[in-house]
Amino acid sequence: MRVAVIGGGVVGLSIAWTLSRDHTVTVLDPQPGRGASFAAAGMLAPAGEAWYGEDDLLRAGLDSLGRWPEFAADVAAASGVDPWLRREGTLLVGATEDDAADVDRVVTLLETHAVPTRRLARREARAAEPALAPGVRRTVEVPGDLSVHNRRLIDALGAACATRDVRTVGAAADVDIDAGRAVGVRLRTDRSRVTADLVVVAAGCGLAGVGGVPGGIRDAVRPVKGQILRLRSSYPLVTRTVRARVDGFPVYVVPRRDGEIVLGATTEEQGYDQRVTVDGVHDLLRAGIAVVPGLRECALTETLARLRPGTPDNAPLVGPTSTEGLVVAGGHYRGGVLLAPLTAAAVEAYVDGSVPPAAASALHPARLEGAVR
Ligand code: GLY
Repeated sequence: MRVAVIGGGVVGLSIAWTLSRDHTVTVLDPQPGRGASFAAAGMLAPAGEAWYGEDDLLRAGLDSLGRWPEFAADVAAASGVDPWLRREGTLLVGATEDDAADVDRVVTLLETHAVPTRRLARREARAAEPALAPGVRRTVEVPGDLSVHNRRLIDALGAACATRDVRTVGAAADVDIDAGRAVGVRLRTDRSRVTADLVVVAAGCGLAGVGGVPGGIRDAVRPVKGQILRLRSSYPLVTRTVRARVDGFPVYVVPRRDGEIVLGATTEEQGYDQRVTVDGVHDLLRAGIAVVPGLRECALTETLARLRPGTPDNAPLVGPTSTEGLVVAGGHYRGGVLLAPLTAAAVEAYVDGSVPPAAASALHPARLEGAVR
């Protein structure tokens, strides 16, 4: 089949690379990998963002986490670019007594999903991560979490796609629909058509601007702004991802192999605003320094804001739509990188007519498509 994938972020490229094994794939994106994927911290940590009532999302995250080691190895082998998968796990940290109670609630939830966790005594926590502030009230280890370097991953996926002749063209304006069936995509620049037997919309927040996508799906995705910082340390400050709550403010510190540290992220309902604000940077630095005081000595190398594609239930929309030949893979909110392998496997199954992974069934767009319009 000729498949058009609208959106060249981590999700779109993962789908393109997976489908290009058996199909001819074109990616439509004016700047692949420069949207939310460019900002992402690359945490593969379903536990850290799990919350009550989001059990289906947690199950999907755990399934996708299990796919990551093989996915990363395959992408690295295909591309020659190592996405720097890290296996040191996560520390969940509560700075105050109230924050500790929040961490305990997450741990109880994780236990119901049989996710291994281990509460560390203060001395153990300091031994594990000496840079952790001595006053933090709770430290829980989640050893199974992984992380990946988002930008190396984008490069790796792009190079892997190139080895299979995936073509990249500019921005999509509309899905071309003929007699109720998707038959291609019109380009924004000159309205020329990329003809396709199947169209996959994986455009993140850009989904709302693509004509021809069923209204229920378009309206289900909203922008949720995240500001995020890149720092650089001249020595390894932390080895694990640290996910902390500081007076109720969630913050994460994600180390890279080369001394880069990602400090994120705000969560703001600000429409399409992508400004980096003094307030956002201040909040992140204040909370980050409260749990890892050594961050003060780092160089601040980058500030960035991007838009997460949020949905009403925080879970993505992955599957066929009411328009024949049109599949959606969007609304990944905080979990685009984590959920990319599961999403790609599910889309491949929908395209080939095989049974999608069980964890993807709860992500089917039918749950929202009719509900919004
Ligand atoms: N998953 C990280 C974030 O959305 O900030």
